[in-house]
Amino acid sequence: MAAKTGRLKSQTLIHLFFNPLVLFTLGVFIPPVIAAETSLNADPDNQQQVKRGDKVYKRFCSFCHGANLEGQPNWRVRKPNGRLPAPPHDKTGHTWHHADDLLFGLTKFGLVPPYAPPNYQSDMPAWENTLKDEDIWAVLAYIKSRWPAETRQSQNKINQDAQN
Ligand code: HEC
Repeated sequence: MAAKTGRLKSQTLIHLFFNPLVLFTLGVFIPPVIAAETSLNADPDNQQQVKRGDKVYKRFCSFCHGANLEGQPNWRVRKPNGRLPAPPHDKTGHTWHHADDLLFGLTKFGLVPPYAPPNYQSDMPAWENTLKDEDIWAVLAYIKSRWPAETRQSQNKINQDAQN
């Protein structure tokens, strides 16, 4: 029973924290356009896009995925409430096991089908009402820019396979 209340509480907190209205009231709402850059793909060599993604990451992702993309401690082990901690986005995680399009959809819509089984319970928010598509691509470009060359190459291959 106590555990149940705790879970409800943390869910409410997360919802409150990510409610755009609350963010707006707190004065931390991100302006819809950070720069004129509007790439609809994630290019880790595009410095402007990566810079924009860095800002998006710091404001919206580092809270859970870590300032250094290191993820939360023991990220492979489900928490008592059955949910997974936030995984790293650096080369030690499995973000790079996924093609760009999947990462984009998962970030935009959250852990719903086809990205997860129906009714999957996750702390990963859907960003569709908070971030523009360009910002999602930019944050993915930033994440990719932090991977070493061999990790980028492996993920490029996954992108190519996904297109065939
Ligand atoms: C409130 C915490 C939280 C925030 C904030 C958050 N995430 Fe997540 N994220 C998670 C959790 C937890 C998971 C693991 C999902 C699962 O399997 O249940 C996850 C998973 C992911 C994955 C899948 C990674 C993989 O290895 O499959 C991506 C991509 C992702 N998040 C991107 C982002 C981006 C981009 C942002 C910022 C715009 C962000 N997340 C903000 C909690 C968060």
